[in-house]
Amino acid sequence: RCPGVSDRRRPVDPALLGCAVVTSPAPVVLIAEELAPSALEVLGDGFDVRHVDGADRSALLPALAEAHAVMIRSATTIDAEALAAAPLLEVVARAGIGLDNVDVAAATARGVMVVNAPTSNIVSAAEHAVALLLAAARRIPAADASLRAGTWKRSQFTGVEVTEKTVGVVGLGRIGVLVAQRLAAFGVTLIAYDPYIQPGRAQQLGVRMVGLDELLRESDFITVHLPKTPETLGLIGADELATTKRGVILVNAARGGLVDEAALADALRSGQVGAAGIDVYATEPCTDSPLFGLPNTVVTPHLGASTSEAQDKAGTAVARSVRLALQGDFVPDA
Ligand code: NAD
Ligand code: MLT
Repeated sequence: RCPGVSDRRRPVDPALLGCAVVTSPAPVVLIAEELAPSALEVLGDGFDVRHVDGADRSALLPALAEAHAVMIRSATTIDAEALAAAPLLEVVARAGIGLDNVDVAAATARGVMVVNAPTSNIVSAAEHAVALLLAAARRIPAADASLRAGTWKRSQFTGVEVTEKTVGVVGLGRIGVLVAQRLAAFGVTLIAYDPYIQPGRAQQLGVRMVGLDELLRESDFITVHLPKTPETLGLIGADELATTKRGVILVNAARGGLVDEAALADALRSGQVGAAGIDVYATEPCTDSPLFGLPNTVVTPHLGASTSEAQDKAGTAVARSVRLALQGDFVPDA
């Protein structure tokens, strides 16, 4: 039979079949969030590249109608509704790690491939977590703001040392390990909670695996590196914060909602938590959190992966996957 548009990926020359030559239009690649320019270079020619603001549902849904691939970061949600609006969709490409904004099960059921770049930004995310931890320990943003405001208040910004303290890593995966390795250089005792890690692996890293209760009780610093799943959402709430050492310093550069923001704000106000470094929020974009008004928080707007190196790696890795997928070629792990 004569190939039609739906046979886009089968390189049959219709003329050879005695059919009218139908040139199928170039596949549409919808870019729903800003990607590194190198991503477009790797994607190459032969695609109809369109742009939309993926955070704006009223723009995203109609734009998906003609998309064969959609490229996103964390601000675009590809759920069942978005998939239903995308009848031609073949690939969802997440330029980063977390897939909590993609309904992978619904996509798979529809035959839509989901690709991400699971190692692209791990170093950047780990460095950002360490930066937040040190900034919180030494109160750097508050001191910076105070000096810029024309005051010289050395005694108001006494911090704490990291050395010889106990650091609890919640989630000892790719980023958790990098954070542990970097903090080891500060001469800390490392403990971690992650029921899915082989004890031998932790031993190699010099990390003692403990239960969450013990981690909360023993840590001077806690840094969270979990995926957002039904199991991890709200894992650290008011009850858990009440069991920590008084004055513990907490960092979350993983996902909003893993640590309950309202409970954390209460604990920061009471001094139960001494300081917090937070990069991610339950709802994003977030410009109004109880954490923003507190003097003992260091907050960034989801910047863990925002380095030129990480964006290059994430963008080019998923662009390569999109190109291969739309050409009907095998897509190796990014
Ligand atoms: P990973 O999958 O390598 O590691 C996650 C670890 O969490 C795994 O070891 C897993 O066993 C553990 N885990 C899963 N469920 C758990 C549970 N219920 N209790 C305890 N441990 C559990 O992931 P990663 O690459 O290390 O990324 C970690 C998180 O950081 C993800 O949420 C990712 O999206 C986020 N992230 C954020 C930024 C940012 O910009 N802030 C950048 C990159 C990644
Ligand atoms: C990720 O999961 O990769 C991070 O949240 C970074 C991002 O989405 O930009």
